[in-house]
Amino acid sequence: MTAGPGQPIWTEQADTANAKDMAVLSLVIAPDPRLKAKCDPVKRVDADISRLMDDLLETMKEENGIGLAAPQVGILKRIIVVGAPRGEADDDGEGRSTDPLRMADPEIVWASEETATRDEGCLSLPDHFAEVTRPATIRVRYRDQDDELREIEADGLAATCIQHEMDHLDGVLFVDHISALRRRIILRKLAKSKRQNGPAAAAAV
Ligand code: NI
Repeated sequence: MTAGPGQPIWTEQADTANAKDMAVLSLVIAPDPRLKAKCDPVKRVDADISRLMDDLLETMKEENGIGLAAPQVGILKRIIVVGAPRGEADDDGEGRSTDPLRMADPEIVWASEETATRDEGCLSLPDHFAEVTRPATIRVRYRDQDDELREIEADGLAATCIQHEMDHLDGVLFVDHISALRRRIILRKLAKSKRQNGPAAAAAV
């Protein structure tokens, strides 16, 4: 997910200790059948999956996103990463976690009736944004990079971002939440720019 034009973007460099092991992967741009697929469960997070989570985070930061899902790099597995900060900061800036989330097989176990509407963008639909309404607060169960089963509560931008990324695992894009007319306009523009960029750009995805 991208957080709308002009939103804060990664300014820190990647953790240099790990940077040499990480890879920036090529993004799949819509329209593409891989973005409409239902992804397979991971079931167990092994070293390869854990490395893929790191690569997804590296790719997300490189591309100025705040979240990314495995199908967006052409891997049809239920894996997402989320960089949106969670929780509210107090006056000292405490209490706000900026640690990125690495999630395999995420599952929403509770969602609030209260909703929130935010401007959403997506690295697979570059330069397009639309307001999407989703539950404001969610509880999510998932496997982390060490294959530990975890459950967290998220609200604010993190809740929006987790739901946006989880949608990708079922082949749902943010434009599937808006009117059919606007969706068609956006997808037609993307298809056109893909054609104009030619076979070289198509091969890059
Ligand atoms: Ni997206």
